[in-house]
Amino acid sequence: IMQNAFLILAAYLIGSITTAVLVARALGLPDPRSQGSGNPGATNVLRLGGRKAAVLTLLGDMFKGILPVLLARGLGADDGTLAAVALAAFLGHLFPVFFGFRGGKGVATGLGIYLALSLLLGLALALVWLAMARLFRISSLAALSAAVAAPLLTWWLLPGRPFLLLSLILAVLLLWRHKDNIQRILAGTEKRIGEKA
Ligand code: G3P
Repeated sequence: IMQNAFLILAAYLIGSITTAVLVARALGLPDPRSQGSGNPGATNVLRLGGRKAAVLTLLGDMFKGILPVLLARGLGADDGTLAAVALAAFLGHLFPVFFGFRGGKGVATGLGIYLALSLLLGLALALVWLAMARLFRISSLAALSAAVAAPLLTWWLLPGRPFLLLSLILAVLLLWRHKDNIQRILAGTEKRIGEKA
């Protein structure tokens, strides 16, 4: 019990490290929370600072999902604990204690979580994102598609009730965080990938 509580807390704290803000500061770029879409994520950093900064943000945010899950599994956590640890990392990204609880939308961190839980599932979701991004050139639409596909693919590729529940919660949170994006998509005003703010 103590170890599980520690793992969940550690996952939340790791998730709370807002990569986009740190990358922007390190590279002297505008704060992604106040420019562009206002979202501290790789998509907005790409808009504001270009490819290198975006890749660093993407990798950092993915790592925040990967590390806690691998750590928990390495310490022998059961499925329920693994799912709780993954959710804690995701919630850290959305509501970071170190950054006034105003975080991102969870796409990269969610991908990291799925990759760490099941490499095949993570790759399948990355493929959904890439295919949709290639077709429509809209990051949020690609993310929303992957989020909707996630519970279905989890049910198929990662058996276990804790993981199905996790995938449903992540999908709901991710959709909710994209409510402004959804309105822009429907209005036809959502920016394309890399399009300047
Ligand atoms: O990762 C978030 C992405 O799906 C949308 O980002 O900046 O276009 O709101 P943004």
